[in-house]
Amino acid sequence: MTGKFKPKYTRVAQLKTADDLRNYLADNQVSLDFDEHLLSKEDSPFGQKIHLKSGKTIGNRLSILPMEGWDGTADGKPSDLTKLRWEKFAVSGAKLLWGCEAVAVSHEGRANPRQLVINEANFSEYQDLYQLLIDKHTEKFGNTDDLLIGLQLTHSGRFCKPNDNTKFESKILYRHPKLNPKFGLSEDYPLMTDEEIDSLIENFVAAAVLAQKAGFHFVDIKHCHGYLGHEFLSAYDREGKYGGSFENRTRFLRNIVEGIRTHAPGLEIGVRLSAIDFAPFKKGESGVGEADLGANTYQYAFGANETGIEIDIDEPRAFLELAQSLGIQLICITVGSPYYNPHLMRPALFPPSDGYQPPEEPMLGVTRMIDVAAALKKSFPELVIVGSGYSYLQDWLPHVAQNVLRNNKADSVGFGRMVLSYPTMPDDMLNNRPSQRKLICRTFSDCTTAPRNGLYSGCFPLDPVYKNHPHAELLKAIKDGL
Ligand SMILES: Cc1cc2nc3c(=O)[nH]c(=O)nc-3n(C[C@H](O)[C@H](O)[C@H](O)COP(=O)(O)O)c2cc1C
Ligand code: SF4
Repeated sequence: MTGKFKPKYTRVAQLKTADDLRNYLADNQVSLDFDEHLLSKEDSPFGQKIHLKSGKTIGNRLSILPMEGWDGTADGKPSDLTKLRWEKFAVSGAKLLWGCEAVAVSHEGRANPRQLVINEANFSEYQDLYQLLIDKHTEKFGNTDDLLIGLQLTHSGRFCKPNDNTKFESKILYRHPKLNPKFGLSEDYPLMTDEEIDSLIENFVAAAVLAQKAGFHFVDIKHCHGYLGHEFLSAYDREGKYGGSFENRTRFLRNIVEGIRTHAPGLEIGVRLSAIDFAPFKKGESGVGEADLGANTYQYAFGANETGIEIDIDEPRAFLELAQSLGIQLICITVGSPYYNPHLMRPALFPPSDGYQPPEEPMLGVTRMIDVAAALKKSFPELVIVGSGYSYLQDWLPHVAQNVLRNNKADSVGFGRMVLSYPTMPDDMLNNRPSQRKLICRTFSDCTTAPRNGLYSGCFPLDPVYKNHPHAELLKAIKDGL
């Protein structure tokens, strides 16, 4: 959708037959497996149930990933647009709603001034949101016994913007040689103290208690995308009890889990993890993204070696081993960060306004995420592993998803951007109906460009609610000026 950009890669919509896709993948050295034929409803893995150790059941193998809309009220309550989005999650057909959207555990920890906040004052709103999901799902599917609903709890750390959409009010754990200057933080920008972290852990526990009271089945202690939970994992240089050793870097998780077990017994816990990360990328002279490394090595990517661009999943494995030992069974695998290497986690042909042209065939990004999740699934067969990053597959999403599930490379396939443009794709897949091509997300990135420029997030190209929203005009003007 960015007018001046001519993508160098073939649009997925042009890969019309299985042979087209197979040949294209081979020509681009992408080793991605897919099933040419979709199985009947009875034989398909999509509708298979997942039984959790806690005794709960998830009714099928499709999940909705957390998707914010930048549309809450100033005090962190949901707006009508928020509710509309959650309704779409509820009627999607997916039986695992992973987190719904990132909800801050304190005002200071918000990623934007319209992010939701969970606290005593807003509590009844979360009861209502939960009930909305239950009502809408029941209306369409008849029962909710096998629907598992989580709330994603977050603190945005380095990427906090609680009061002004243009102004970071970062909370950082260590001075990052690349990210401090990239996001305007001085070399001596103050670090969060251990005492501040201790008190934040109490906020997470209090938020989990409220989430449980509101009805949510689990909370996701977010450890991804460069936000605070994720930053702990690369706080190799930090001194004190939250930095340095693996034990110290995971103390945040352990203490939150301990608090939840004490104060919200019976609440299931999940973790969304950036299982790999790379060095920050920047726009090169041609507009294409490149790793911002120079000749240096890079030591701050959790899940990569010191090249900063090669995977090393020893520590992510140790993290999942720890999670398992803490009784956590639900794991959602994602990668990287939308702030400094967005092509990793949201493969797209058309970059958002603060991004860069794809440095690799986006299918490679999808494949990387599938392979990382598969490697972790193999190491931890008892964990329930949810995969992310499938939207770029577009028309081929069901074919790849079926192959992944059939081969036990993940337990559930997550839907991110696709659910914004085509909320009922999971239901169509479950019922073996052909995809509705006009609704397929084509990775135009407007849902990221809009909030990066202070607007609501939604599928402006394809969803009539956003197409006809006053922000659509504003977005157009912003894009025309790029
Ligand atoms: C507009 C937008 C909002 C998002 N909000 C969240 C969020 O609140 N929490 C989160 O963990 N990930 C969030 N993500 C990331 C998605 O959950 C997902 O990982 C990503 O879009 C890749 O999956 P996909 O290819 O299906 O889109 C967001 C992504 C987009 C595009
Ligand atoms: S959901 Fe819509 S706006 Fe977002 S990437 Fe897909 S097509 Fe673009």
